[in-house]
Amino acid sequence: MSDQVFYVTTPIYYVNDNPHIGHAYTTVLADVLARYHRAKGDDSFFLTGTDEHGQKVEKAAKLHGMTPMEQCDKTVVNFQSLWKKLNITNDDFIRTTQERHEKIVSAVLQDLYDRDLIYQAPYTGNYCVPCERYFTDKDLVDGNLCPDCHRPTERLEEQNYFFRMSRYQEWLVEYIRTHEDFIQPAFRANETLGFLKQPLGDLCISRSKKRLSWGIELPFDHDYVCYVWFDALLNYVSAIGYGTDDARFRKYWPECRHLIGKDILTTHTVYWPCMLHAMGLDMPKSIFAHGWWLTGNVKMSKSLGNVVNPMDFADRYGVDAFRYFLMAAMTLGNDASFTEEDFISRYNSDLANDLGNLLSRVVKLTLRCFDGLVPQPEVLLEPEDKGLLACAGEAVAAVTSAVENMKLDRGLETVMNVVRAGNRYMEQTAPWTLAKEGKTKRLATVLYTAAETLRIVSGLLFPVMPEKMAELRRTIGMSEEDCRSVSFDQIRSFGTLRPGSRMQDIAALFPRIQTEKPSCAAAPAEKKKEPRIKEKKSVVIPEGIITIADLQKVRLRAARILSAERIADAERLLSLKIDLGNGDVRPLVAGIAKFYEPETLTGKTIVVVENLLPTVIRKHESRGMLLAARDGERLRLVTVDGECAPGSEIG
Ligand code: MSP
Repeated sequence: MSDQVFYVTTPIYYVNDNPHIGHAYTTVLADVLARYHRAKGDDSFFLTGTDEHGQKVEKAAKLHGMTPMEQCDKTVVNFQSLWKKLNITNDDFIRTTQERHEKIVSAVLQDLYDRDLIYQAPYTGNYCVPCERYFTDKDLVDGNLCPDCHRPTERLEEQNYFFRMSRYQEWLVEYIRTHEDFIQPAFRANETLGFLKQPLGDLCISRSKKRLSWGIELPFDHDYVCYVWFDALLNYVSAIGYGTDDARFRKYWPECRHLIGKDILTTHTVYWPCMLHAMGLDMPKSIFAHGWWLTGNVKMSKSLGNVVNPMDFADRYGVDAFRYFLMAAMTLGNDASFTEEDFISRYNSDLANDLGNLLSRVVKLTLRCFDGLVPQPEVLLEPEDKGLLACAGEAVAAVTSAVENMKLDRGLETVMNVVRAGNRYMEQTAPWTLAKEGKTKRLATVLYTAAETLRIVSGLLFPVMPEKMAELRRTIGMSEEDCRSVSFDQIRSFGTLRPGSRMQDIAALFPRIQTEKPSCAAAPAEKKKEPRIKEKKSVVIPEGIITIADLQKVRLRAARILSAERIADAERLLSLKIDLGNGDVRPLVAGIAKFYEPETLTGKTIVVVENLLPTVIRKHESRGMLLAARDGERLRLVTVDGECAPGSEIG
């Protein structure tokens, strides 16, 4: 065991909704890093959890007719079961409603208050009553409209409590400038420094109970609760014994690496360092902000219906393949695209073809030529054997450095290059020919070298795909202990695979995913067959007539109109917001402005084509098309007769 400590955290996730790919990504990333560090022998501690207070949670609870605590208890299970499904090895799971956390938040608040680092003062802000939130002048749209619901905000003044954050501005700028690894990637440090060019205000850390009661009560004023971010950030220290177990706390703090998404940079690189400094604590080692997963180039959002559900995806294609894609397809720091097509293409090329092929070649030949027993290699290796093993050995160093430098995608690419080199080696040395020619000694060395390469590769990929790599290791005859965990110290030493141990025959480790479109490699005979069958069965379809299959392509659904407004300079157009059920709320532009006053439309249940390619009309996004009957000059909307839930299928 090394004497190094590695403490990694994910953001704690809001429990107002179910987990999505953003949550899954950071958690898998933290898990992979923790597993690499464990394999290196570091004393690792991996923390994740849930952020359970505040407005979002209180609002979701109201919507679902639950108490906030019921909302938390119900949703936290979805996070926990997803982590179980994704094989996440967190050492702790903190919930901010736990007593161990609330006590610490209270103690920190009291301490800062006692030291006059928290004070009371009037607060003036723009309050949106329906959203129950304050917005700054900068946030507002068109003067005083709420940026979320676009309704007018009210100017409110009330007493609040403030943390003297402004006091630390100069210190923070200097700290960031002199600690270049503190905020990563470097361009995010510049972003924070840019933010700090403006004078830093004091942070309002209280919320009046008149407006929000779901939070930790301020110990010095029972009419207020604590601002959710001030509460949440403290999880990183409350979970490891701050204020309760000093020895444990000192072991992990400040050896801490925070992983966050780019949207929560300011809270982590400005608020949090100032809070820690005021508390007299050292800064964490690093705060790394990753980019966002997009669908194609578009942001994922519920209303666009393009959010990847991690649970479904892992169910459909396998947990490890999903983990691999997340790690290989995102260059840390940048945004990346997640589409099913990209996933399948990477899966088929890296895992099914390259890795799957090498494994199957080695195992099949060993079964055929050596009764399935790992062969004894010759003492002297040929240059091509040494070349392959050197390439695999170098990958160990490359992956170690990729992990240190948060360049996981590059590390994985290096491992895949070893796999490709392994396949080339098989082609160059042609063990199948050696077998035919009876060159058993050379054959033994070649198969052993290739199997050793697989052992090294599987060790390097183990933190990313623990189950599949355990299966691979079992297949090439490694011990149960080696299938359960990996030690980086041992990966490198040649000869670890024991001659005489038994390999096992398995079906494909990564079965190829068949796509609907026939791949270029499809056999020509098969390609021909299909149209012939169709021709025989087909009937002549008169011009203008469609089949049931054509009709089924159009998905018609009932939708409720939530709002409608005119579009400036477009006298025919209205921009609607429609509800298609299950949280699918979308914009839709319709040419009905001459026939309907916008305010008469709200609440109507209409019929829309739901699966029309989204488009943008006069800078307004439109996702779907409504149906209407045209009667000469008049136009009437197609509506549903009586009560009907939004999203109901029509057909
Ligand atoms: N509760 C706060 C964090 C408090 S940490 C002390 C919070 N929670 S969250 O549930 O809204 O978001 C958690 C993380 O998900 C953020 O890091 C955010 O960047 C990330 N993601 C949300 N959508 C994402 C993608 N599409 N892609 C990648 N990550 C994104 O913020």
